Amino acid sequence: LDNGLGKTPPMGWNSWNHFNCTITEKIVRATVTAIIEKGLDKHGYKYVNLDNCWAASSRASDGTIQPNPTTFPDMKGLIDFVHSKGLKFGLYSDAGYYTCGKRQPGSLGYETKDANTYAEWEVDYLKYDNCETDGSKPEVRYPVMRDALNKTGRPIFYSLCETGKDNVSLWGPKVGNSWRTTRDIGDYWDKMISRADVNADLWPYAGPGGWNDPDMLEVGNGNMTFEEYKTHFSLWCLMKAPLLIGCDITKMSDDTFKILTNDHVIAVNQDPLGIQGNRTKQDGTNEIWQVPMKDGTRVALAFNRGDSASDITIQWTDIGFPNSASVNVYDLWDDKKMIGKFTGSVTAKAIPSHGVAMYQVEPVST
Ligand code: GLA
Repeated sequence: LDNGLGKTPPMGWNSWNHFNCTITEKIVRATVTAIIEKGLDKHGYKYVNLDNCWAASSRASDGTIQPNPTTFPDMKGLIDFVHSKGLKFGLYSDAGYYTCGKRQPGSLGYETKDANTYAEWEVDYLKYDNCETDGSKPEVRYPVMRDALNKTGRPIFYSLCETGKDNVSLWGPKVGNSWRTTRDIGDYWDKMISRADVNADLWPYAGPGGWNDPDMLEVGNGNMTFEEYKTHFSLWCLMKAPLLIGCDITKMSDDTFKILTNDHVIAVNQDPLGIQGNRTKQDGTNEIWQVPMKDGTRVALAFNRGDSASDITIQWTDIGFPNSASVNVYDLWDDKKMIGKFTGSVTAKAIPSHGVAMYQVEPVST
């Protein structure tokens, strides 16, 4: 969507994956404080996004959407607090009569009113879901909110949550800054990896201003191993997915912090060329993914889906370079240390089960 936003994928935090409907203003304030204390904003994480369950169950008598008075007693104060820390604020609504689970009123028929309310509150991001609708096509309902947001004059990132139905990648680029390509993620290897698989094939539709969204990060929520979370983060970065942290930041472990703040891997996600990486080779459970970078380098991901450690050889032809090219290879998960200069291929040794090696490959003139 050409509204000046999302030139690179959005980065931030969202309440849903960890807190679901137990989210409160208090938790959000503590999260903001933790983001600043840990310096996550310095790594690019800017959006603080509320998901479902922030609003009261009914609108005010004049139809205005209102925060749940018990859990969000001072929404405007919260938003001002977020902004005072140099961060941005996001909310969630739905292109139907209610949000998912009938938790709060949806915006169908109230698009202009809600967009104006959000702009007045100084909201910066809207995630817009597709539950409890009137059955009409989402291609019809989603542009109504796009236009209403646009009319407010406030730049508001517009995130479509249409869970991968109705060929959303085909029409999403004109309607939103990102669109969900998959059903909900979960904090399990199989779920995470199946979302990546669905999203991978849609790479031609993504670009600056509009991104495929395989759902939010589960890194740090506890049900995957360190290697699996590293793989999850590597794939999301390579696929130019929104990087919305989904764990409890106030209790973030050192391992989680280490994964989420690897600036070399984040730079792949935030590269201004904005091409979504793709899978170029599958050999049993060994895979090669690649993405071109603006500076002429390529990033290669050697991914071991198998149950035991494996060597994986990356051929230059798997990543779009001629076999004869001499290249410097840097290991992005080892502080971008140079591994060496190679011609034709490089072998990543003993990649653990469900793990990756992520290399930046730089052609050198000889
Ligand atoms: C849907 C969305 C999720 C989340 C929940 C909230 O399932 O896909 O990301 O927003 O609704 O109820």
